[in-house]
Amino acid sequence: MAVNVEPARRPLRGEIRVPGDKSLSHRALILASLAGGPSRIRGLAPGADVASTGDCLRGLGVGITRPGGGPDGDTVVTPPRCGLLPPSGPLDAGNSGTTMRLLAGILAAQPFRSTLSGDRSLRRRPMSRIAEPLRRMGARVVARGREGDGETAPLEFRGPLPPRPLTPATHRLPVASAQVKSCLLLAGLHACGRTTVVEPVRSRDHTERLLARFGVPVDVADSPDGHKVSVTSEGLPRLTPADLEVPGDISSAAFWIVAALLVPGSELRLTGVGVNPTRTGLLEVLRRMGADIRLETTRVAVSAAGDEPVADIVVLTAGPGRSARSRGSGRAETGLEGTVVTAEELPSLIDEIPVLAVAATQAAGTTVVEGAGELRVKESDRLTALAVELGRMGAGIEIDGDRLIIEGGPPLRAGRVWAHGDHRMAMALGVAGLAGGSGHPTVVDGAEAASVSYPGFWTELARVAG
Ligand code: S3P
Repeated sequence: MAVNVEPARRPLRGEIRVPGDKSLSHRALILASLAGGPSRIRGLAPGADVASTGDCLRGLGVGITRPGGGPDGDTVVTPPRCGLLPPSGPLDAGNSGTTMRLLAGILAAQPFRSTLSGDRSLRRRPMSRIAEPLRRMGARVVARGREGDGETAPLEFRGPLPPRPLTPATHRLPVASAQVKSCLLLAGLHACGRTTVVEPVRSRDHTERLLARFGVPVDVADSPDGHKVSVTSEGLPRLTPADLEVPGDISSAAFWIVAALLVPGSELRLTGVGVNPTRTGLLEVLRRMGADIRLETTRVAVSAAGDEPVADIVVLTAGPGRSARSRGSGRAETGLEGTVVTAEELPSLIDEIPVLAVAATQAAGTTVVEGAGELRVKESDRLTALAVELGRMGAGIEIDGDRLIIEGGPPLRAGRVWAHGDHRMAMALGVAGLAGGSGHPTVVDGAEAASVSYPGFWTELARVAG
């Protein structure tokens, strides 16, 4: 599907409610499936990725229903009474790395065989990072695919040896990854003893917060070798059912934040967005670049979303003609200035780099994203995809080893661009189209990819910018 995006002719104004947080939604479904009774989830993310997690869990005997019907109704998750059941065939994680890596931690511990696969993009993504540590816990995991010298899906789980429980272990991750951390903590719930994960830098901590909500104590500590998270179990997960509310997804809000920054005179309020500090790196980086972004009506969803902070995000930009460059100061029309994103802060905005790169094309000076090698193994090779597609729109963008370098400045040229089968690329290019300076539409090919996390994105874009 191709979508035409016209350059914005007027400021973006009003309120937007973004879909529920994808990361939290996967985890809410998965943890609820391990509980001793039904759980209720409000605001579950509507995209294809979370649907894949739901389908895999249904394949393991979990009941997932919307008793009230309708896309906005509560979801009720009812685990099978005596533990997960053997699936009747391979489980399909679709495009979703989170589905595959988190479920692997559970399937590795089950006393039955199962196979987990996914679409072409997911079958190319690295899985040694979970398969190897799971094996150290006694899991028998066979990767059917190979990419270079690494293992890839389909993944076959042949039941642990001895049959169960798994053996606890301490895992030191070479790269901060919430998916790998969560996989190993979930495996740890099925191990007898204490399982610890040490990350070089703290990645998003939704699993830790949500585990606490489901009655599992989690120990968290900073140590000289990194950020440490531990769970202790007697070999069987004993989770207490929970009532949860999933806040809006900051990774979806990111597209509107940057859209507002690119269109002079905009004022957007993004309501009820999760602002967990392990996810708000984009806000900090954009503020450093000069953006006016405020958090209002903040609250902590204590009794609901596993103690996740929630806020309205308000973005304001100076009106047309009032910005600094038009007064000859050399700054860009947006008033933004380039910055350096360090490897240390990258985990807190790992999914926002595509849209940050779009913002950086319209900032004065150079923006550098350091230590960005992980972007090569996301839903697409995002470093290459960004260089190629934003390059087509006239941006000065290049890759130097693991660094992404963007020379900001000239308005983007409208053109024909491709999403590389990647939802975040599709939406970032849609936002870039709003800044296309030539008066022509930008054509985004492969725009349907957005439905992986944000099915209503293009309709909302037409409403807000139309
Ligand atoms: C996610 C973690 C991140 C992120 C992904 C979602 C999660 O991946 O890129 O979109 O929900 O745990 P990594 O853990 O591989 O960095």
